[in-house]
Amino acid sequence: MYSWRYLEYRYLHLYTSDKLYIFKIKQILYNRESSKGKAHIGGGRTMKIIMLGAPGAGKGTQAKKISDKYEIPHISTGDIFRANIKNGTELGKKAKTYMDQGLLVPDELTCDLVVDRISEEDCKNGFILDGFPRTIPQAECLTEALNERNEKMDYAVNVDVPDENIISRMSGRRACLNCGATYHIVNIPTKKPGICDRCGEPVVLRDDDKPETVKKRLDVYHAQTKPLIDYYGDQGILKTVDVTLPMETVFDEIVKMIEA
Ligand code: AP5
Repeated sequence: MYSWRYLEYRYLHLYTSDKLYIFKIKQILYNRESSKGKAHIGGGRTMKIIMLGAPGAGKGTQAKKISDKYEIPHISTGDIFRANIKNGTELGKKAKTYMDQGLLVPDELTCDLVVDRISEEDCKNGFILDGFPRTIPQAECLTEALNERNEKMDYAVNVDVPDENIISRMSGRRACLNCGATYHIVNIPTKKPGICDRCGEPVVLRDDDKPETVKKRLDVYHAQTKPLIDYYGDQGILKTVDVTLPMETVFDEIVKMIEA
């Protein structure tokens, strides 16, 4: 693919006498650049996706792949809280007290943060929410914020996996607290043991991935987050995918569902 500057240079040399022609070429290239992110979706559709599922089901793994494919921002509330904890912010200090116990951070600390983030310019063609909403009040807050802009979510992808698989996935997961990359000691090991492939920082077992906290997070999921499956089912945007399958198969299934 030729860059704008290269083509402009080529056409300037070939058609220096025809200013109108060059202007048209510029317009075509400008339109192509500004539609980045829509190009893969087709028909000018936006792609606003929610990833639903239990802790450790594989939401983040698939969300990163979808974000890369459709060039839409991946917004993970867990990553936002972990970055705040790492930077010692007030939000981070508050969030940590809940996260370490396997509890949800209160809705009032979460909703505005996400609504502000999806209002940013890079979200205009779509975005993928990973770990939000997690309660019915959070979902209502999101629906309301989008209604005010005459918008709505396009898909809620429910990654479905039995609780038995979760514990082994999470005890094997290693996370980079610097850049958010995740690995698994068996399924996706780092190239150098214990070191993030992407940024070179150490990868660690997250505090909330310890088995006693995972158990609590699963209880919280069943009580507070699972009702969202019906909430988005009633809105007609729910798509369920079996994530006991290999990661690439799961990804292909999701792409088929959202492009159907
Ligand atoms: P968050 O970071 O969102 O954690 P989570 O939802 O519990 O999800 P995880 O990140 O643990 O797992 P995942 O589903 O992304 O799985 P992954 O792809 O890594 O939230 C952490 C905490 O922050 C919460 O507990 C809460 O306190 C707070 N919080 C966040 N958002 C909040 C909100 N909206 N409201 C209130 N509080 C909030 O995969 C897991 C492992 O499995 C990996 O090792 C992966 O390699 C492996 N794997 C993935 N897919 C497959 C596959 N198909 N086959 C085999 N292995 C696989």
